[in-house]
Amino acid sequence: MEEPTYILACVSAALVSAVWLLKTWRHNRQLNPIPAVGASGIWGYYTGGLRYMLHAPEMVQEGCTLYPGKAFRVPRLFRWDFIVSGKTLIDEVASAPESILSALEGNKDSLKVDITIGPEILNHAYHIDVLRTTLTRNLAKCFPDIRDEISCAFDDVLALDGAEWKSVPALSTIMSVVARSTNRLFVGLPICRNDDYLKLMVRYTIDVVIMAQVINLMPAPLQPILGPFISPRSRGIRKGTTHLGPLIEHRIAQEKAFGRDWPGKPNDFISWLLDSAQGSERTVPDIVVRILTTNMAAIHTTSSVFTHVLFDLTSHPEYMPALREEAERVVQELGWTKTALGRMYRLDSFLRESQRMHDNGPVTMTRKVMDPAGFTFSDGTVVPAGSFINATSRVEHFSPANYEDPDDFDGFRFSKLREEREQNEGQAVFNKHMVTTSVEHLSFGHRTHVCPGRFLAAMQLKAMLAHIVINYDVRSATDGVRPPDDVFGIVAVPNRKAKIGFRKRL
Ligand code: HEM
Repeated sequence: MEEPTYILACVSAALVSAVWLLKTWRHNRQLNPIPAVGASGIWGYYTGGLRYMLHAPEMVQEGCTLYPGKAFRVPRLFRWDFIVSGKTLIDEVASAPESILSALEGNKDSLKVDITIGPEILNHAYHIDVLRTTLTRNLAKCFPDIRDEISCAFDDVLALDGAEWKSVPALSTIMSVVARSTNRLFVGLPICRNDDYLKLMVRYTIDVVIMAQVINLMPAPLQPILGPFISPRSRGIRKGTTHLGPLIEHRIAQEKAFGRDWPGKPNDFISWLLDSAQGSERTVPDIVVRILTTNMAAIHTTSSVFTHVLFDLTSHPEYMPALREEAERVVQELGWTKTALGRMYRLDSFLRESQRMHDNGPVTMTRKVMDPAGFTFSDGTVVPAGSFINATSRVEHFSPANYEDPDDFDGFRFSKLREEREQNEGQAVFNKHMVTTSVEHLSFGHRTHVCPGRFLAAMQLKAMLAHIVINYDVRSATDGVRPPDDVFGIVAVPNRKAKIGFRKRL
């Protein structure tokens, strides 16, 4: 190498290193006041990152014990994540607007949404508004269909004859029922019973989660180049189009020919999406992507919650008679209606208590800090721009300040309170329904990004529980012992192998 070129290369390398060192130093200076958990010594960051992959729940618990009500950081393999506990800081995360703490950007990064699902979801998430408004408004009207699908799906998946006991894997059985009943509302009959379609809707979530992990291990510049080769997106759209393409095209054509409220227009999620879609959003691939995404948000969450409910019911069989009495009495009085579900206080309470005690991991509400100045909490803690903040709900869900005997499962904890309050103060004051969120009950999130599907989920969960207690006896296949969760990093799911015994009541 010529001497001037050599000197230029050395100077450039020195400059780049200096800039990098300066940036790292400034970044670390910003981080230093925030305590770190699980990372000490020279290699601590990396060994801590590995430890977090294997023992996230324990490390989050350690942080909460050492720094109660404060922010702390945990090492991921390539970055620090920030976690907050305590009512004040959790509420600040929950209340921050999207432009300051972004949920979309938080998920975009962890799930590589632009590659695994598609940019359309990030550009205009109008399907979330449809869930919040039209879908929620239509739930009572659509309830008979959902109820019918739940009933038929249980008949089909359990396939019981006479009064024999049959043991089935809990999670996968429940997932079949949830996928069918959700899609009865999303796309209607007969597609909601098509095995290949349902497999796609269930599998897509798993593929997105796995492939996002793989893509996240690639160097950033290679992600948009190599990511699409392993992304489930193209296959999802292709298969989704096979099932939904003709139906979507037919609806667009009907609307063109006969106007927006054409005769015979089905009242389902596809129609509601088309009512709100603009321009290029009114195409088969765009609608298919939104159906895939909404199924992603709906199926695994609702199925996990209900599987936990079954584990709670079979490990606490003493609740069955009172649940059954209430469900039978209310259905006899009001029939199978959404109003009837609203009167099932004990079922509502049992579901809420099960959600309080079982979540899908130690952290929730992932947000990316968007403000270039960072995010400043009310206690003065500053989390730098571009960082990821999470909340942990476990401390609040198990705090004796919020719940009496918080470690005990008390299925009627909330219904007892409701009955007491109604006797003393009238109906309006009760604010601990299944769908009510607060910093003490974060199962559906809280405030800015609170789950817009929770009214649908609550309706399905209650209808499934009422259907089971009225029509079946259930028992644990593990002698009343509650099967432990399966934990993968920061994700916890109900034990996937555990079985539940069902017997038809004659
Ligand atoms: C029991 C079942 C469910 C649970 C436990 C659950 C839980 C949650 C939680 C904790 C959040 C908030 C996350 C955050 O703040 O970052 C959320 C958001 C969301 N959920 Fe659910 N969910 C359930 C069912 C559903 C269903 C059935 C749908 C769709 C029909 C749905 C659609 C969504 C969407 C679109 C968001 C994002 C909202 C936003 O970013 O503004 N969820 N859910």
